[in-house]
Amino acid sequence: MGRSDALVLYGFTGDLARKKIFPALYELERHGALSMPVIGVSGSRLDDGQARERVRASVEEERPAGDRAALERLLSRVSYVGGDYREAATFEALRRTLGAARAPAHYLAVPPALFETVIASLARTGLNQAARLIVEKPFGRDLASARALDAAARAAFPEASIFRIDHYLGKEAIMNLLYFRFANTFLQPVWCRDCIDSVQLTMAESGGVGTRGGFYESVGALRDVVENHLFQIVALLAMEAPRTRAFDDVQASKIAVFEAMRPLRPADLVRGQYAGYRQERDVAPDSDVETYCALRLHIDTPRWRGTPWYLRAGKGLAGDAVEAHVRLKPPAHALFEDSAAAAAEPNTLRLRLQPGEAIALSARVKRPGKRFVGERRELLLCEDTRGDALPYERLLGDALAGDATLFTSGAAVEAAWAVVDPVLWTPPRVVPYGRGTWGPREADALFVGAGGWVEPRA
Ligand code: BG6
Repeated sequence: MGRSDALVLYGFTGDLARKKIFPALYELERHGALSMPVIGVSGSRLDDGQARERVRASVEEERPAGDRAALERLLSRVSYVGGDYREAATFEALRRTLGAARAPAHYLAVPPALFETVIASLARTGLNQAARLIVEKPFGRDLASARALDAAARAAFPEASIFRIDHYLGKEAIMNLLYFRFANTFLQPVWCRDCIDSVQLTMAESGGVGTRGGFYESVGALRDVVENHLFQIVALLAMEAPRTRAFDDVQASKIAVFEAMRPLRPADLVRGQYAGYRQERDVAPDSDVETYCALRLHIDTPRWRGTPWYLRAGKGLAGDAVEAHVRLKPPAHALFEDSAAAAAEPNTLRLRLQPGEAIALSARVKRPGKRFVGERRELLLCEDTRGDALPYERLLGDALAGDATLFTSGAAVEAAWAVVDPVLWTPPRVVPYGRGTWGPREADALFVGAGGWVEPRA
């Protein structure tokens, strides 16, 4: 299937459209990569002019000082259909608006509870024919609902026409993980249980849930960012080399990682909630939803058996950062006066994923002088503070062109859910933590053996 010839955006009046999708469409337009009508759909009654004003306001806010001509070109592509996602009339109006377009991409930027409704309406009205489906995470809320959603999507669209977005996969620093791991010989012999003591990954956000309390109450940190964004990072770090960079090969390598993860038990998990969360808008006063989650993972492959992986993600924390630390084992032979002390800070590969990107390797060097004692230095392999290009620009452009490389297969989604599913039903209770901290102290107890949480650099 070639290029889509129209983009239909469901959830046109939502937060995601305003914050991420309109700016991404503008960037695509600016780079000459859009060239198709954009049709917004949602329950609100708007005319085309009002719909265009929404796009304009978003782009002007998110991309100030932009290219006015590109914005006008984008606006001239936008039209709008308002109506109920359950009603055939909405989709008949959409068909008329699509006009001569024969291969639209239907992008569901709607709450997950509406996915199946929209898909069913598309199938009923035949608008699924020759079309693509782009879906946003979360894909389901547990293993069973992910399977049901996948079955609904596959009943209406062939797998090759379904694009599941995890926007972390469109980030430069995360694409670089695949490249860095398999483009470098020096990593190959050390990248395994023999040399690596543990791996930890932190995703910290200083902001709270803001206006998304209602949505967040139905997910929590584990479902919102761990099972998808963080697991994708783990898969890239842990997987065997795919045969090629093609979609099927990369998915197969990732699925092998998820399938080798031991299903989580309550003892592997600490759930936290920041003080004041229960007073946020649309949050239950007795909510047990976690705004922080830390866990210990085991990946039982020949490469990783015995190396623990520690993950944590939270809102209301002390900073904004996504960073991984790969901690190597100390040298087996204690030759120097400071060997015992040095063992506490062994070689570490620091992978800073955002904001900014850095890959740094810490190693010890001797201090000048008679004694054989040293200090830790960091060798920066790459440092880029230019900030991220918009991941949504990359991913939407790829989906419209039919390139699935940076998307997720249904099988990979299910394999990831299978790891977390057991703790969704019997979760440990949330423990409180103060806003602006690094989360509850209880998460320290997850560490087995040496090491502990490392605070990401400011
Ligand atoms: C989204 C989550 O998927 O990712 C949000 O729903 C989270 O809760 C966001 O804030 C973080 O994305 P980014 O690109 O800002 O790191």
